[in-house]
Amino acid sequence: MQASESAVRQLGYLVFECAPGVLEPMSVVYREILGAAVEPQADGAVHVRLDGRGFRLRLEPGKASRLAAIGWEVPAEGFDALVARVAATGAALSDPGAEMAALRGAARIMRMTDADGFVHEFHVDQPFAEDAALKAKFVCGTEDNGVFGLGHIVQIVADMAKTTAFYTDVLGFDLSDRITWPAADLFFLHCNQRHHTVALSAPAFGMPPGAVHHLMFEAKSKEQVDAAYARLTELGFPVIMTIGQHTNDEVYSFYMGAPAGYAIEFGFGGKVVDRANWQYQTFDAPSSWGHELQLAPQP
Ligand SMILES: [Fe+2]
Repeated sequence: MQASESAVRQLGYLVFECAPGVLEPMSVVYREILGAAVEPQADGAVHVRLDGRGFRLRLEPGKASRLAAIGWEVPAEGFDALVARVAATGAALSDPGAEMAALRGAARIMRMTDADGFVHEFHVDQPFAEDAALKAKFVCGTEDNGVFGLGHIVQIVADMAKTTAFYTDVLGFDLSDRITWPAADLFFLHCNQRHHTVALSAPAFGMPPGAVHHLMFEAKSKEQVDAAYARLTELGFPVIMTIGQHTNDEVYSFYMGAPAGYAIEFGFGGKVVDRANWQYQTFDAPSSWGHELQLAPQP
């Protein structure tokens, strides 16, 4: 499916609940290692900004660390059509209300929970002004060469075929490629110019359906990635995979262990998708060099 007005345009935001003691070190990760703007809120949550949007990540205090919502930004003119397609799958959609929409920075919002327990929030964004300083640091949201969204998320799902069909047939994603190797079999999907916004895996890496394997954020320079990698050790956070380069999206990156239980990939130089001419292919290794595994992420 080509980009259409009723397809998801980008990964707009993520909301996480953080177990006691986790919110503070996660704030350190986003502020001190990635260089994002980290802004405590009056309600006890912390907003992480990567561009001018009010938040790209919202970290809330909770009983356990978990992904609470995946925010999918949809163009205003296509919102009703997308919601109708989601409803036609039999998914139970609910309207979280005007107060929640305002909290999310959304003009409209509808929510559903999928079979693996992932909560999807389809929304129309409120307009926001760009933040030049952050824009210089992160490939996020809308760039001069297209729409990229906040980064990517790797989800563990029970039913690969059904979940892939939901992303492609209902939300308007296209398959980018597949990497099959002894440790896992990953399917990568794009909804805009970012090589992948979602990667899907059957249970692997010791993780059950409903788990997040990692999040990826993209820097505007290789130097940012190298500096962040150096700060990891200084600040005492674990390396999950050393610096390396992926075969499919060609990202130069490392993976760190985050106290919230998922890994964070910080990378540079992701391949830009030309949707009209994209050729699907299969790779037999995730990385062309580096990315040596140090520790498995904890489920
Ligand atoms: Fe990744």
